[in-house]
Amino acid sequence: MKLAGKTAMITGGARGIGLAFAEAYLREGARVVIADISGAEDAAGALGDKALGLTMNVTDQASIDAGVEAAAAWGGGIDILLNNAAIFDLAPIVDITRASYERIFAVNVGGTLFPLQAVAKRMIAQGRGGKIINMASQAGRRGEALVGVYCASKAAVISLTQSAGLDLIRHGINVNGIAPGVIDTPMWAEVDALFAKYEGKPLGQKKREVGLAVPLGRMGRPDDLTGAAVFLASADADYIVAQTLNVDGGNWMS
Ligand SMILES: NC(=O)c1ccc[n+]([C@@H]2O[C@H](COP(=O)([O-])OP(=O)(O)OC[C@H]3O[C@@H](n4cnc5c(N)ncnc54)[C@H](O)[C@@H]3O)[C@@H](O)[C@H]2O)c1
Repeated sequence: MKLAGKTAMITGGARGIGLAFAEAYLREGARVVIADISGAEDAAGALGDKALGLTMNVTDQASIDAGVEAAAAWGGGIDILLNNAAIFDLAPIVDITRASYERIFAVNVGGTLFPLQAVAKRMIAQGRGGKIINMASQAGRRGEALVGVYCASKAAVISLTQSAGLDLIRHGINVNGIAPGVIDTPMWAEVDALFAKYEGKPLGQKKREVGLAVPLGRMGRPDDLTGAAVFLASADADYIVAQTLNVDGGNWMS
């Protein structure tokens, strides 16, 4: 019970990795707020009365402010923020559209920075420190031919994690990140379909290929990430500041 008595807010927590994090935090004794643009109430409803579902759009400041207010009122403050919501798209550089670029940066970068800012203000006012974890990606560690904008957005998340980590530690707020490799979630169905379109592969082939290329020998599952997410949210990580931890079966070393 490493998170007993804590309240955690998880953006994009209604499915995939975020939902696995919600379940893991509940097992560790936390109260959990799932803040998602869709499916939050249903997901939280299935998790019992220590979970609250809030419809929140991480690209909308009024929605973020209302979500943070409601989460803190329900949970007696906020101790942990997991910035997990993100979207994916891919295209060759010459085909990237401004609309896709703006949407990805709005959700993945602005949607990390502004919930972080709103929760950090509240944590500072609470005066009891806190933990903020940003979901980056191996895509943020280096470019990929077809994935320019998503890779850039995740590199920005790693950079923001460093700056916010250095700025907020004087308030006892640890900001760190997790960089997963390839994890089998609903997002990967969309990723696989996009690679099928641009690389001319049958559906499912890209997913098989990336799994086989992992040094550990398979794609990750959401539960492969929960140990890191619990650790970084717990007092065990008090001396860890501004780091992004690779949890990727050996895909990347840094
Ligand atoms: N799946 C992977 O292989 C992989 C790899 C590396 C990093 N990641 C990162 O892990 C995180 C979770 O990924 P996942 O695979 O579970 O994704 P997913 O698409 O399955 O889930 C993302 C969730 O975010 C929510 N969301 C999207 N836009 C939102 C918005 N504007 N406001 C609030 N919520 C919004 C969605 O409704 C969804 O519930 C993301 O940050 C992703 O970039 C995933």
